[in-house]
Amino acid sequence: MGICFLLLIVGVCWAQYNPNTQAGRTSIVHLFEWRWADIALECERYLAPNGFGGVQISPPNENVIVADPWHPWWERYQPVSYKLCTRSGNETEFRDMVTRCNSVGVHIYVDAVINHMCGGTAGAGNHSTCGSYFNAKTEDFPAVPYSAWDFNDGKCKSESGDIENYHDASQVRNCRLVNLLDLALEKDYVRSKVAEYLNYLIDIGVAGFRIDAAKHMWPEDVKAILDKLKDLNTKWFSAGAKPFIYQEVIDLGGEPVTGSEYFGNGRVTEFKYGEKLGTVIHKWNGEKMAYLKNWGEGWGFAPSDRALVFVDNHDNQRGHGAGGASILTFWDARLYKMAVGFMLAHPYGFTRVMSSYRWTRNFVNGKDANDWIGPPSNSDGSTKSVTINADTTCGNDWVCEHRWRQIRNMVIFRNVADGQPFSNWWDNGSNQVAFGRGNKGFIVFNNDDWYMNVDLQTGLPAGTYCDVISGQKEGNACTGKQVYVSGDGTANFQISNTDEDPFVAIHVGAML
Ligand SMILES: *[C@@H]1O[C@H](CO)[C@@H](O)[C@H](O)[C@H]1NC(C)=O
Ligand SMILES: *[C@@H]1O[C@H](CO)[C@@H](O)[C@H](O)[C@H]1NC(C)=O
Ligand SMILES: *[C@@H]1O[C@H](CO)[C@@H](O)[C@H](O)[C@H]1NC(C)=O
Repeated sequence: MGICFLLLIVGVCWAQYNPNTQAGRTSIVHLFEWRWADIALECERYLAPNGFGGVQISPPNENVIVADPWHPWWERYQPVSYKLCTRSGNETEFRDMVTRCNSVGVHIYVDAVINHMCGGTAGAGNHSTCGSYFNAKTEDFPAVPYSAWDFNDGKCKSESGDIENYHDASQVRNCRLVNLLDLALEKDYVRSKVAEYLNYLIDIGVAGFRIDAAKHMWPEDVKAILDKLKDLNTKWFSAGAKPFIYQEVIDLGGEPVTGSEYFGNGRVTEFKYGEKLGTVIHKWNGEKMAYLKNWGEGWGFAPSDRALVFVDNHDNQRGHGAGGASILTFWDARLYKMAVGFMLAHPYGFTRVMSSYRWTRNFVNGKDANDWIGPPSNSDGSTKSVTINADTTCGNDWVCEHRWRQIRNMVIFRNVADGQPFSNWWDNGSNQVAFGRGNKGFIVFNNDDWYMNVDLQTGLPAGTYCDVISGQKEGNACTGKQVYVSGDGTANFQISNTDEDPFVAIHVGAML
C-alpha cells in the first residue's frame, strides 16, 4: 500500500482511473453523433465557460454505411478501418476539434470500438465512410489490414457463431456479439493494430477512451492492449499522464461476467446506477428516495473510484443494452432532471451527462420500432449541424440536455462541491430527501405527492443563496427562488409537488 500511495501522489500508480479533466472540472458530456465541427464550437462557446471537463465523442474511425435501415446510429459500431473519417467529419476536422477543445480546457474521450469489425452480413465493397474496400464474408479488411486469421471463429463454441448464452463467459468473449466479426485479441498482431489506432489518437491529443463492448473481451486482452499505449500528449497533459480508461461492461448482476474483473484496467460503466435511480425516482417496486441514504457502494455498485456513472446512455435511452423501462431519459424531462440533479450532487462515481437527438418513436408491443434511427440528417445522409436558438437551446432536433438550465447548473454545483463529503442527509421516510456537500452545497427533493415545508441543517455559511434549479444568479440578482441560510446553518425549504421542478439546489458559488 505504501508504495502505491507514494506513487499515487506523483500520479503514476492509478493513472488510468484519473479522468484527466482540468482541476475543478468534474463531469463529461456525451455529445452523441455530433459532428466534430459542432463539438469544437461547443467546447469554446458553452462547455468551457460552464465548467464541463470533457466530451465523449461517437466512434471516429471508418465504419460500414448501412442502407437498410437507413444510416442507423449503430452503423458507427461496425468498423471497417481505423481511418479517421465518419459522418462526424474527416481527420482534419477531428484534429481541429481536439486542438480547439484542449485549448479551452475541455478534453476529448474517444468511444473505441475494438472488440469487433462490422457484421458478418455487411457484404463486400466500399460502402464505408472513407470508401475503403472490405469483405465481411471473407473477413478481409485491407485498410487495416485484417484477414480471416485475425478473427475468433475457431475459438467460438456456439452453434451459430454468435453469443447465444450469456451464462457462458467464453461465449460472451469468443463468439460474435450480434453477429459482429469478433477480433482475435489474443494475437499480438491484432493487439498491435488496435494499440496503433489508439496511440494515433493519443498523439493527436485525446485524453482517454470508452472501451466499447469490453464485456466481450477477456480482461487480460484489454490489459495487453492498454500496456502498449503511450502517455498522453505533453502539449496538453502533464508528463507521465495515462489515458483515462472506462470500460463498457453491462453487469446488472446474475451473469458470470462481472464488472469487477475489469477494475485492473480502468473504470467500468456502472449500469446498475441508472437502472436503480430510475426505479427510485419513478417510485416503482416500492422504492423511495429515502432509501438513497446509502447510495453508491451501499447499493452493491462498484467502488466509487472505479465507477463511471450516468442516468442514461445512447443504448438504454432507446431500449438497447441494459436497464429496461426504468431508465429515465429526456422524454421524461421532469423526472429526468431530478435524477441527473441527484447524480451530479452526489459524490459517488465519475459522472457523464447524456446529450441526445430527438427521433420519432413508434412503440409496437412495448418496443420502439424506431430504435435504430440515426442522427438528424439531410437527404444525402449527412448529419445536420447543431444550431443554437436565441434562448440558448438547440435546433435541428438536437436535444442538448447539457444546456438545460437545471442540468448545466448542477454540473457547476458538482465542480463547486468537488472534494467535499456527503453530509447532512435528511429524509421524511418517503420521497422528500436532502443532503449536502460539506460547507459548499445543499440539495432538497420533494418527489412526494404533497407540499413540503421543512427547516433543515444545510452546513452552509449564513447568507442568501440563489436556487440554481428554478433560476440562477445573474449579476447580483437571482432569477429563481431564494434561500436564506441563518447563522446556525439552517434554512427553510418549501417545495410544492406541482412545481415545474420539485427540487432546490444551492451552493456557495451562487450566493447573493
Ligand atoms: C475535410 O472536410 C472539410 C469540411 O467538409 C473539407 O473542407 C476538407 O477538404 C476535408 N479534408 C480532407 C482532407 O478531406
Ligand atoms: C466504390 O466502388 C465502385 C464500384 O466498384 C466504384 O465505382 C467507386 O469509384 C468506388 N468508390 C470509391 C470511393 O472508391
Ligand atoms: C413525509 O412523509 C410522511 C409519510 O411518510 C408524512 O407523514 C410527512 O408529513 C412527510 N413530511 C413532510 C415534511 O412533508
